[in-house]
Amino acid sequence: MASTRVNGKRLAGLVLRWYASHGRTLPWRNTRNPYRILISETMLQQTQVQRVLTRYPEFLRRFPTVRSLANAPLRDVVIIWRGMGYNNRAVRLHLLARSVVETHGGALPDNRERLRALPGIGRYTANALLSFAFGKSVPVVDVNVRRVLSRVLWKMESISAVQAEKPVWNAAEALLPPGRAYDWNQALMDLGATICTARAPRCGHCPAVSLCASRGSMRRTGDAAPKKVRSFNGLPFRAYRGRIIDALRERNGSMRIEALARQIHAGFSRRNERWLTSLIHGLERDGLITTTGSGPMIDRRIALA
Ligand code: ADE
Repeated sequence: MASTRVNGKRLAGLVLRWYASHGRTLPWRNTRNPYRILISETMLQQTQVQRVLTRYPEFLRRFPTVRSLANAPLRDVVIIWRGMGYNNRAVRLHLLARSVVETHGGALPDNRERLRALPGIGRYTANALLSFAFGKSVPVVDVNVRRVLSRVLWKMESISAVQAEKPVWNAAEALLPPGRAYDWNQALMDLGATICTARAPRCGHCPAVSLCASRGSMRRTGDAAPKKVRSFNGLPFRAYRGRIIDALRERNGSMRIEALARQIHAGFSRRNERWLTSLIHGLERDGLITTTGSGPMIDRRIALA
């Protein structure tokens, strides 16, 4: 898969013009507040836009500043994370907020090194903050953008193929249109979400089709083999983790682990104790829950941390 030499200026012109008339109006595009952008980008990393649209305002009403998030008990943050999935993100955000208060007086820094030194901030989040909050000319590559750039710049033979991360980030850096990085980054996200989608790209509507290296070349192969995930009784561990946290959110206090086990798996019996213990240890390690008591796991009590 050789990268074609695309006319970057032309590509940017076409995509930016399309974005001006087709870009989505989204609440996190009406702010340059770094904290608000941190929250939206963290939510958007693993949750659909439609869901985030409902949960984002509620989160910000409850925790309007870094300091308010840092000062809250973790439990309250996990409770408000309801419906978002991947609850570890609530723990990570809380840790991050505390660190920003301790090391930067509550203000997210506007520089790559200081951002990357904070717990839980990787290249994606750092660059999203630098571009969307601080107006810096840096690329922002998430799964959608990676797919779009892979297809436009390299000849993809299959609809499920993408280029390796490193060359995509490098290309994204090289393509940044001077003075327009913010719109360009947001535009690529919209292109990936609405036109250059994973399963059914609408090439006939794409502003970049005339320059696209993959135009007409992608076979509709089956999806890539699904990643093997740890599961139990046909459901991934992650689903049970979510059920446990949901049950504890509702309970708003501690509960006996045996009762919890029956709530998350109707057929629970003592034979499933190893599975349950491993699930609970995982949640404990991630800082989401605490257990009290001694003896067999099912006789102890569990609560949100
Ligand atoms: N997904 C991740 N970041 C996004 C953004 N800023 N707008 C829309 N979708 C996104």
